[in-house]
Amino acid sequence: MILTVIGNRPQFVKAAAVGTHLRGIGDEVVVHTGQHYDRELSEIFFEELEMAPPAHQLDVGSGTHAEQTAKIMTRLEPVLAEVSPDAVLVYGDTNSTLAAALVAAKLNVPSIHVEAGMRSFDRSTPEEVNRIVADSLGDLLLCSTQTAVDNLVAEGRGPQGRLVGDVMADVAFRFGPIAERRSLILERLELEPGSYAAATAHRAENVDDPANLSRLVTLLTEASRITPIVLPLHPRTRARLEAGGWLEALDNEEGLILVDPLGYLDFTCLLRTAKVVLTDSGGAQKEAYLAGVPCVTMRERTEWVETVESGWNTLVGLDAKAAAAAMHSYAELEDAEPPDPLIYGDGDAGERVAEEIRGWFGSI
Ligand code: UD1
Repeated sequence: MILTVIGNRPQFVKAAAVGTHLRGIGDEVVVHTGQHYDRELSEIFFEELEMAPPAHQLDVGSGTHAEQTAKIMTRLEPVLAEVSPDAVLVYGDTNSTLAAALVAAKLNVPSIHVEAGMRSFDRSTPEEVNRIVADSLGDLLLCSTQTAVDNLVAEGRGPQGRLVGDVMADVAFRFGPIAERRSLILERLELEPGSYAAATAHRAENVDDPANLSRLVTLLTEASRITPIVLPLHPRTRARLEAGGWLEALDNEEGLILVDPLGYLDFTCLLRTAKVVLTDSGGAQKEAYLAGVPCVTMRERTEWVETVESGWNTLVGLDAKAAAAAMHSYAELEDAEPPDPLIYGDGDAGERVAEEIRGWFGSI
C-alpha cells in the first residue's frame, strides 16, 4: 500500500495524474496536510480533477516554515505508524514534501519522490531546499525531464533516478480541452481570447520582501499598459500587497484585472487562451509552454530550462524593462510553429510512475 502526502495546489494536480494508475498496484491512502485550506486553493481541485477526498486531513494551516513543517511532521507520524504503508509518495518541492520525506525516513519507510531532480541552483528559496532533502532521502526518484535525471547523477543519486515524463503535462493534455469547453471565465471577465496576459505571482522571494514586492508592482503595472493583465491573487500575495499599501493602487490600474484565485479549469482556460503568461510559478511556465503560449517568468532562474531554450519562455527577474522587451519580442512568435509539447512526455507519465513503482516494489 502507498501513502500519498499532498498539501497544496500544484500537488493536487500531480496526484490526480498518478492516483488512477496506482489502483493497478494496490491501495493508495491519501493524506492532505492542510497546507492549503481555502476552498479555491484546495477542495475545488479535488472536485474538478475528479479525485476522491483524502482519507486523512492534518489541518496544519499556515505558519512559519519551521512551524508548518514541524506541525506536518508531528501530525503525520502517527498516521504513518497506524497505516504502515509499503512506501510514502511525495510530489514536488513544498513544505509538505519536505516534512513527509523526513517522517518516512525516520520511521524507515521507503519514499518515492515524483518531480525529483529539479534544480534552480538557488538555495535561498524554500523550494530548492525542500527538493534537495526529498531527493537525498528518497529511495525511488521519478523525474520529469532528462535535465532532472542528469542533476541527480551529478549529485550521486543517479541509481535512484528514472525518467517518467511530467505528470502535470498528463493533466494539461487531458483537462486542457475540457477547460476550454466548460469554463466561463472569459465571458465572466468579458475578455476576448488572445487579447490579455494571464499572470500569477506568489513566490516568497517576490512578495515577502517589500523592496522586491515594490519591483513586482512596477513590473505588473508597466506590463499592463502593454497588454491588459488578469491576475488571480494568491492569498499570500493579497496579504502582502494589502500590508504594503499597494493593493488599492493596483486595483485602480486600468489594465490590471485582479480576481480571486481560480480553480483548475478556469485558470487553465485563462492561460490557454492568453496572449502571453507572466508568472513566478514553476507549473504555470510549463503549462504555458504546453499550450503554445509565450511566457515571461518573473524569476532569475528556472528548473524548467527546456522552456527557455526553446525561445518560448524568458527569465526577467523583477526587471520591468526586460519584461516589457520580452512581451514585445513575442510578436515574432505569433506565426511560429508551437513549441514541441512532447519534451515533457506524451501524457502517460502517471502510467509510467505506476510502472516504475511496480517494478521497484518487485525489487525490494
Ligand atoms: C506553497 C509552496 C510553493 C508552491 C505554492 C503553490 C512551500 C514552501 N511553498 O507556497 O512552492 O508553489 O504553495 O501555491 O511549500 N494561505 C491562505 N489560504 C490557503 C493557503 C495559504 O490564505 O489556503 C496564505 C497564508 O496566509 C499563508 C500564505 O498563504 O501564510 C502562504 O502559504 P504557504 O503554505 O507558504 O504556501 P504558498 O505560498 O502557497
